[in-house]
Amino acid sequence: MQIPTVRPRRLRATPAVRAMVSETAVQPRQLVLPMFVREGITEPVPIASMPGVVQHSRDSLVAAAVEAAELGLGGVMLFGVPERKDATGSGALDPSGILNVAIRDVVAEVGDSITVMSDLCLDEFTDHGHCGVLDARGRVDNDATLEAYAEMARAHAAAGVHMVGPSGMMDGQVAVIREALDAAEHDDVSILAYSAKYASAFYGPFREAVDSSLEGDRRTYQQDPGNGVEGVREALLDIAQGADMVMVKPAMGFLDVVRRVRDAVDVPVAAYNISGEYSMVEAAAANGWIDREAAILETLTSIRRAGADVVLTYWAAEAARLLRA
Ligand code: PBG
Repeated sequence: MQIPTVRPRRLRATPAVRAMVSETAVQPRQLVLPMFVREGITEPVPIASMPGVVQHSRDSLVAAAVEAAELGLGGVMLFGVPERKDATGSGALDPSGILNVAIRDVVAEVGDSITVMSDLCLDEFTDHGHCGVLDARGRVDNDATLEAYAEMARAHAAAGVHMVGPSGMMDGQVAVIREALDAAEHDDVSILAYSAKYASAFYGPFREAVDSSLEGDRRTYQQDPGNGVEGVREALLDIAQGADMVMVKPAMGFLDVVRRVRDAVDVPVAAYNISGEYSMVEAAAANGWIDREAAILETLTSIRRAGADVVLTYWAAEAARLLRA
């Protein structure tokens, strides 16, 4: 018998045959671009730890959202950076707060041509940087926070958002938000639940992006990075509470969780290619250590291969351009 008897290399011999048997495609419609909009500025402000990403002004945000729609992206995910923060994150609930006005601005311009999503969480708005309100002993108060989330959901929906993204990891948040939306006749607004969200060191650059100075850490509400079973449990709980889609976050270190959740649920699964993942690749590329464009596409392909139907990524617009070229 002649060795080797099996030659998998035959299917790698030419670009044509490789393309024919390629298992995983990344398409612009599967990508969501997260964007930051900061109150009180007229020009975009660069985020030093995320080269190429900015805090938008209201005008530049709208222009970027229009561009995202023209590129055929699936969605934009909006984060607000208020001028003033306080203990309860009141700027998040205020209809004239930055995120709510930004949703209005964007929807007025793009209509239904792209899915407009909003981060539904208090951390961008609280002076202590936690995702909820604190009780008298300084602990994040789950049920008091739920009331704020319900009001935030109503405000985002009134501003015209298509999909809200609760990211605070409070127990019961999806149920409370679904109920609030339905009671306000916004049963058409969908929920992308950040279900399996881990307490990650890789959120570092995001803190600069939203001018957050977190006191302590988020380990009483975000998950221990070692827990995979729990990620599936959180996703199932959110679906039972009415989530239309579920998300795993971060993506790169949690691809096994993406796969487990994909196999366990019957709704679309998203994964968030977060700030620190972006910055690592950008920093290595800036040093000439890796091929930037190849690394971007490989990252997104790997997240899709792991089972993500949708990928939130700061490279969404650029990837769409690369994929078209
Ligand atoms: C919470 C939220 C965070 C991110 C998205 N939503 C920060 C956190 O949970 O600590 C991180 C996104 C990123 O790092 O790119 N509102």
